[in-house]
Amino acid sequence: MTPRPTISFARHSVPKKGSVVLLSAEGGDLGEAARACDAGGVLKRAFAAADFAGKPGSALEVIAPAGSALDRLVVLGAGKPSGLAETDWVKLGGQAAGQFRKAADVSVVLDLPGVTVGAGDAASVALGIMLRAYAFDRYKTRKDDGDGKAASATKPSKFTIQCDNPAAAKKAFVAAQAVGDGVMLARDLVNEPANKLGPVEFAATARELHKLGVEVTVLAEKEMEKLGMGALLGVAQGSPRGARLVVMQWKGGKAKEKPIAFVGKGVTFDTGGNSMKPAAGMEDMKGDMGGAAAVTGLMHALAARGAKVNAVGIVGLVENAVDGNAQRPGDIVTSMSGQTIEVLNTDAEGRLVLADALWYCVQRFEPRFMVDLATLTGAIMVALGQSHAGLFSNNDELAARLTEAGLATQEKLWRMPLGAEYDKLIDSKNADMKNIGGRYGGSITAAQFLQRFVKDTPWAHLDIAGTAMGSPSSEISQSWASGFGVRLLDRLVKDHYEG
Ligand code: BES
Ligand code: MN
Ligand code: ZN
Repeated sequence: MTPRPTISFARHSVPKKGSVVLLSAEGGDLGEAARACDAGGVLKRAFAAADFAGKPGSALEVIAPAGSALDRLVVLGAGKPSGLAETDWVKLGGQAAGQFRKAADVSVVLDLPGVTVGAGDAASVALGIMLRAYAFDRYKTRKDDGDGKAASATKPSKFTIQCDNPAAAKKAFVAAQAVGDGVMLARDLVNEPANKLGPVEFAATARELHKLGVEVTVLAEKEMEKLGMGALLGVAQGSPRGARLVVMQWKGGKAKEKPIAFVGKGVTFDTGGNSMKPAAGMEDMKGDMGGAAAVTGLMHALAARGAKVNAVGIVGLVENAVDGNAQRPGDIVTSMSGQTIEVLNTDAEGRLVLADALWYCVQRFEPRFMVDLATLTGAIMVALGQSHAGLFSNNDELAARLTEAGLATQEKLWRMPLGAEYDKLIDSKNADMKNIGGRYGGSITAAQFLQRFVKDTPWAHLDIAGTAMGSPSSEISQSWASGFGVRLLDRLVKDHYEG
C-alpha cells in the first residue's frame, strides 16, 4: 500500500537538502522566508523563462537548482494572498503533494508577502497533503512508480511544513487530521469491491469506531424483522449476504441534549434486482454505499476530534442481488412506519432501505435534525453533473446551513424543490405509495418518497450519486471515491451545533 506521508511543522529555516515548495503571490512576488530559499538566485530567470506569474493553480519547477544542494525547487502560484480561503490552503497542500510521486523529503515553506499565514492555514495545507496522497492500491501486488521500474521504496514521503507558529499549527492539525482520516475511511469503503465488502463486513468496519469512543450497535435480520422493517428487508431478500443496520452514537455533548442524526444508504452492491441494470458500468455499483461510507467517515471524524456534540449515525446495509427469492416488481411490502409500498421497480431500492432507516432514527432518537446521504438516483447526475450534490429539505435554515458548509468545503450542494405536485406522483393504486414516479423529476420523486418517512423532523436529503464516486481527479483527490460528505458535514457540525 502507498504509505501515508509523515507531516510535521517547523519554524522557518532555509532547507539545505531534499526538495522545497514555495508559494508565490500573483505577479511572482515572494515573501522573505521564501526568497531566502532561492540560494542560487535562480528563480527570477526561471519565472521569466516559464512565464510564471503566480496565478492560482500554476506551478513552476526547477530541478537541481544551481547554487544549492536541493533536489527540486517548486513554486506554486497562490494568487492574491489576502483572498485565500480555507479550501485554497487545502488545495495548495494537495498541489504540493501532487508534485512528488516518489518518496521525497519536502519542506513546504508557507510564506507570502503582506499576510500572516495562520496556524489553521498550515493545518489546512497538511490536510490537503494527506488527501492528495491517498491511493487505493491494497490489491496491487506489484507497485509501479510510473517509470516502469518497481517502486524502490515503500517508505513514505516526509513533508515538513514551515510556518510562523508550528506549535499552534500542530494543534490545529489534530482536528484536521481527524477529518482527513474520516474522508479516507469513506474512500476506502467506497473503493472496496463488493466481494470484499458486504453488509456484514461493512458493519464490522463500523464496529471498529468503538476504539474512538463511539457506541456501536448492529441489528441483524431477526431484530429488523421484529421491528417490522419490511422495506429494507425486501431489498436484501435476493442476496445470501444478509442485511445489517448499524447505529453509531457519539456522545460528546451535554447528557440531556437531543442528538443530531445522519443516515446513510448502504447498498454494498446494486444489481438492480429483478429490474436488472444493464451490464455496462454495473461495476460502479460497488459504490452504492457512498452515503453509508460518508456517515461512517463523519462519525470517525467527530469522535477522533472530540466534537462537543451528541451525534447519531445510522446506516442501512444490504446487497441488492437476484436469486429465486428476490423481490419482484409488483410486490407490496410493509415498512416499519406501517405504510405500505408497491415495489414497481426493484432498482429503486435505496429509498426502500432509507424508508426504514429514517423512520427508525426518528422513532428512537427524536433528533434535532436528520441529514441523509444516498447515491440515490442517476437523475441527479443528469440535473447537476458531478460538481454539486442535490439538496432536498423541509427546513430552510438547515438547507441554508448545509449550502454554506458546502461552499466553505467546496463539497457543493444545489437545492432542489419538494412539493405536493411531486408527492402525488408516487401515490399508488394498490398500496399507500409506489417506489417510482413517472419519467420526469426522478430525483425529486425519490426525495418525496423519503419525506414520507421523516414526520416533521427538520430533515435534509443529499443525493450524492454524482459526487461520491467516479469522481474527476482534483487537487485533493485522485481516487475514484471522493469521500464526499465527510468534510461538508463536519463543517456543518463545527459551525452550528457544537458547545
Ligand atoms: N444506485 C442507483 C443510482 C445511481 C446510478 C447511483 C448511477 C450512482 C450512479 C439507484 O439505486 C438506482 O438504480 N436508481 C434508479 C431509479 C429508477 C429505477 C427510478 C435510477 O436512477 O435509474
Ligand atoms: Mn438501484
Ligand atoms: Zn442503488
